[in-house]
Amino acid sequence: MPFTVRPAVRELAAYVSGETAGDMVQLGFNESAFPPSPMAVEAARQACRDVRRYNDENYSALKRALADHHGLDENRIVCGAGSMDIMRNLAACCLEPGRTLVTGRLSYAFPAVLARAAGAGLRLVEEPSFTHDVDAFIEAVSDCCAILYIASPNNPTGTSVSLDALRRLAEALPDHVLLMIDAAYADYVTAPQAPSPDVLVDEGYNAAVLHTFSKAHGLAGLRTGWAYTGHHVVEAVAKVSLPGILPVPAMAAAIASLADTEHTTRVVEQTRALREWMTARLVELGLDVIPGDGNFLMVGLPQSVAMDAETLYQRVKARGILLRRLANFGLERHLRITIGPPDDMAALDCVLTEVLADV
Ligand SMILES: Cc1ncc(COP(=O)(O)O)c(C=O)c1O
Repeated sequence: MPFTVRPAVRELAAYVSGETAGDMVQLGFNESAFPPSPMAVEAARQACRDVRRYNDENYSALKRALADHHGLDENRIVCGAGSMDIMRNLAACCLEPGRTLVTGRLSYAFPAVLARAAGAGLRLVEEPSFTHDVDAFIEAVSDCCAILYIASPNNPTGTSVSLDALRRLAEALPDHVLLMIDAAYADYVTAPQAPSPDVLVDEGYNAAVLHTFSKAHGLAGLRTGWAYTGHHVVEAVAKVSLPGILPVPAMAAAIASLADTEHTTRVVEQTRALREWMTARLVELGLDVIPGDGNFLMVGLPQSVAMDAETLYQRVKARGILLRRLANFGLERHLRITIGPPDDMAALDCVLTEVLADV
């Protein structure tokens, strides 16, 4: 019999990522607008001296630093090579044919890919107003649901779900469902001192709250993520994780970045200010802006603009700036714009002014 990959993988569409191209302005990947903490860079450099050794499989130093910094129980922390690595491990623990993942139709797409690859069922919750409707999520849960994934702020819409609404969701879920809350962009939320959904784990709900150093900490290229979850999930994930997958320099950078709160606070404040400025400019240019809490904005072309998103994307690209298309979500009149450094935002403002003046 010839070699074939599993049917579930064969039928999987290729993962749609953003376009990359040489020296163009990249506003398609939701990376940080600012460089990481110099302390993090230095710690990574120093740690390179130790790379002949595998990393500590338990990542104890990072777990301790995270627990101290956020006031959490270090035994409930899982670390991985980015939060996508942890999502993959959670999927390996929970998804198989006969089980289902519930997620939003306009949610971050990777969990749906994991469900399909596992041959598991997928239930997509409609999001007509670009926000997660917690009641619709609750209604979508069936006896075979194993994971309910919800991102707050969500990618690509940027909209958030309040902690109260997440608690109501957690309360409504049957015991057999793991509530996976993706808080990748939570640092950028403007609500004053918005409490982290991590508290839901301490309150005893069957939840895993995913975090990343790829966004506000500016360490996307070092791929470091973590989750706060119950002991039973920590134990299961340990069985399927690749030992030491989080590289020594990445872990050292993450620990140093956590300590440099001044830097992260400055990055977050500047990103929020740029987001507000960009929102105002996009509205002035006649675009529909979905009010977003992340380091990006989803914008729509109103019917009065005689251009679809693909045309706008191509015209902006022709002038040296890459945005993110959302056609894979069925959104033909929307694009996603990462909040980049001030110069890139000013360049985008000029380009959009020129392109939209032509229609
Ligand atoms: C909602 C969401 N979760 C997770 C990730 C990936 O995070 P990481 O780099 O930690 O794998 C992204 C990346 O864009 C994202 O948008």
